[in-house]
Amino acid sequence: MNRLKVTEAQLSSLSQRVETVLDRWVPKENIHPAPLHEAMRYSVLNGGKRIRPALIYATGIALDIPLDSLDGAAAAVELIHAYSLIHDDLPAMDDDDLRRGKPTCHKAYGEASAILAGDAIQALAFYIVSVDPNGPDSAGTRLKMIEVLARAAGSRGMAGGQAIDLASVGQTLNLSELEDMHIHKTGALIRASVMLAAYARPGINDATLERLDHFSKCIGLAFQIHDDVLDVEGDTETLGKPQGSDSDRNKPTYPAILGLSDSRKRAQDLYGEAIASLSDLGDSASLLKDIAAYIVTRRR
Ligand code: IPE
Ligand code: IPE
Ligand code: MG
Ligand code: MG
Ligand code: MG
Repeated sequence: MNRLKVTEAQLSSLSQRVETVLDRWVPKENIHPAPLHEAMRYSVLNGGKRIRPALIYATGIALDIPLDSLDGAAAAVELIHAYSLIHDDLPAMDDDDLRRGKPTCHKAYGEASAILAGDAIQALAFYIVSVDPNGPDSAGTRLKMIEVLARAAGSRGMAGGQAIDLASVGQTLNLSELEDMHIHKTGALIRASVMLAAYARPGINDATLERLDHFSKCIGLAFQIHDDVLDVEGDTETLGKPQGSDSDRNKPTYPAILGLSDSRKRAQDLYGEAIASLSDLGDSASLLKDIAAYIVTRRR
């Protein structure tokens, strides 16, 4: 089996792990108000790659943290991501009809339900980090994790990046403006995934925190560059979302500004920089490194 296949098998086992956790936390369809819970479950339990939870678990493995203490954080970060996708697909934003191979939440349940499902999914994320019985014992650690997640989701993170994205439609951004948009809309939550696990490690030293932070910043940006590349060279069936959506909507993207080959090179360079920053962690970080490789080679 080649390396990519091994990574995919490992990712699939971590994704099953978070699937079970999410299934437990997101209220069942028969719980009042049932239509809202149905829309929430439709959008959360629907086959995403679960890269962000995998990054939390892989960082946990690198730092020797018991994985069950990270289940809540893994579910929380995936919930913030799921909520961001529901809102990203709305007619007022990217206006997309297909997500993870199925009609988008607003196509299936209507716009009002999609907005509310997103709101409730976001709130659930913070609820889980606050109350998860298997989470860190220290209230201070939980508070730090809530801070990290809130910053990554808010106006200085994902939501801010989405605002920049919307304001940039039809504009010609320079490379540093484009990078700023990507770092916020996508990079912030990927960075938070790694850092949530890092802060869950009691007594972690500043040097390790800094290295993990640099690693996560690099792969966060690389993730969105590769997403932009896939929008050009992927196919709708494999992607599970409409290929060509960015150019249809006149979005500034890496391929639009740098061209495909320089975009791929930029993602590869960021991958190299990410791997270099993990050199001190040794073999315990091998899954983390494999996930970084997957991020810049994946087909979906
Ligand atoms: C898609 O994220 C949205 C971006 C931030 C680029 P993913 O590629 O992780 O989507 P899923 O969760 O696997 O569907
Ligand atoms: C998504 O960027 C970023 C967030 C959802 C926060 P895109 O708009 O490129 O994501 P896709 O391509 O629709 O998944
Ligand atoms: Mg978008
Ligand atoms: Mg989109
Ligand atoms: Mg995209």
